[in-house]
Amino acid sequence: MELSEKQKELFATYRVGDTQYRLAGEEAGCFKLANDFYDLMEQLDETQHILSLHPGDLEESRDKLARFLCFYMNGPHLYQEKYGNIQLGAAHAHIPIGAAERDAWLLCMARALQMQPWEDDFKEFLFIRFQTPAHRIQNRP
Ligand code: HEM
Repeated sequence: MELSEKQKELFATYRVGDTQYRLAGEEAGCFKLANDFYDLMEQLDETQHILSLHPGDLEESRDKLARFLCFYMNGPHLYQEKYGNIQLGAAHAHIPIGAAERDAWLLCMARALQMQPWEDDFKEFLFIRFQTPAHRIQNRP
């Protein structure tokens, strides 16, 4: 992905040490983002098809995403401590994810980010970052 000058500035600002984890509100902030994300997935019409790919009970999905986000933002490795190592591509290989599913996931995350009490630049930075794994995880057209 080609980054604009503004995007390069965002990366220079936020990709330093555990800046992201601190600005996100550490563990509580990562859990809130994951819970808001899955609450929205349950509510939005546009995300019903990706909700149906998940287990009926989202409790573990919420816990896994929240813990993964702590690690993703350069905080503690809470996912690995409880569930072991993860490679996102392999973890999603059994799930049919095309462009429509990828875009629904990103829409849901964009809306979840909007709900956080964080500065706009930080939310924009995180949304740009999520594009990369979301595109890598896509495993069909
Ligand atoms: C591209 C669209 C995506 C779709 C449709 C999708 C869908 C799913 C589904 C259906 C599960 C299974 C939940 C379960 O069995 O408990 C899952 C697990 C997970 N997803 Fe995604 N996902 C997507 C992208 C992402 C991205 C971009 C991230 C992280 C930045 C992510 C992080 C995770 C994590 C950490 C798990 C738990 C994996 C495990 O422990 O097995 N997902 N996802």
